[in-house]
Amino acid sequence: MAYELLTLERHDNGVAVLTLANGKVNALSGALVAEIGAAAQDLTDSPPSAVIVSGGDRIFAAGAEISEFGGPDEAKVIGPEIHAAFDRLAALPCLVIAAVSGYALGGGCELSLACDYRIASERAVFGQPEILLGIIPGGGGTQRLARVVGPSKAKEMCLTGRQVKAEEALRIGLADEVVSPESLMDRALELGATLAKGATVGQGICKRAIDEGLSTSLAAGLQIELDAFVEVFGTEDSQIGVKSFLENGPGKAEFVGR
Ligand code: COA
Repeated sequence: MAYELLTLERHDNGVAVLTLANGKVNALSGALVAEIGAAAQDLTDSPPSAVIVSGGDRIFAAGAEISEFGGPDEAKVIGPEIHAAFDRLAALPCLVIAAVSGYALGGGCELSLACDYRIASERAVFGQPEILLGIIPGGGGTQRLARVVGPSKAKEMCLTGRQVKAEEALRIGLADEVVSPESLMDRALELGATLAKGATVGQGICKRAIDEGLSTSLAAGLQIELDAFVEVFGTEDSQIGVKSFLENGPGKAEFVGR
């Protein structure tokens, strides 16, 4: 599909880069959300080895397009559309990395939370400022933020609308790494390249086990792991990896992604 409000590049090593390109503030209009959903479907149909989600230089994404808000009837449409697009992105069978350059507010913060891993530039600012408009996060923020930073910090952020700079984001686990603005994309691409050289099917199985386990009890999660553990031994990469270790020692396997 041809995209107008984002770009989707696929690199030769299997890493895909999705970049929001909706004007100066990357507001998540209905049209942009539809394109994110379509891009996530494209990536689902033909899975990459890793995905990097990035936005503008100063503003990663400033949240939902506020001019499209109305009353409860509009909310009934906007909320499920954002959830569907972000859930599809989150469910990709590979690591989805947010490269957060600057402001990630509202739906922008929620988009980064739908990713598996957040690399923030020193200029990044995260926040769920919806309450300052008298509303609450509707793109997964109340649930995913609480799972990432814990319920007390999520409540403090969502109930006050306070924004969190990169250093604090790192401290509370909202950012996984903080790097200089100049090295942000290089670092994201480097991580993507490392993943692309790995056992990508196993990575997808591992991600699924972690995510499914987190939404259930420990006992059910441990059973999910056991099933996934058996499943991964059915991959060609597991045979390659074990054989390579026994013959040549650790870290030398050349995986084929099957
Ligand atoms: N939806 C629609 N328009 C938005 C927007 C959004 N989420 N965020 C910013 N804009 C618009 C502003 O209204 C302004 O429009 P104008 O040029 O026609 O006046 C323009 O983008 C630039 O915003 P401005 O606030 O002047 O830029 P800034 O550089 O000072 O600040 C932000 C940038 C992102 C920090 C600030 O705009 C902001 O806090 N935005 C709202 C974030 C938010 O509440 N998101 C949750 C939405 S539910």
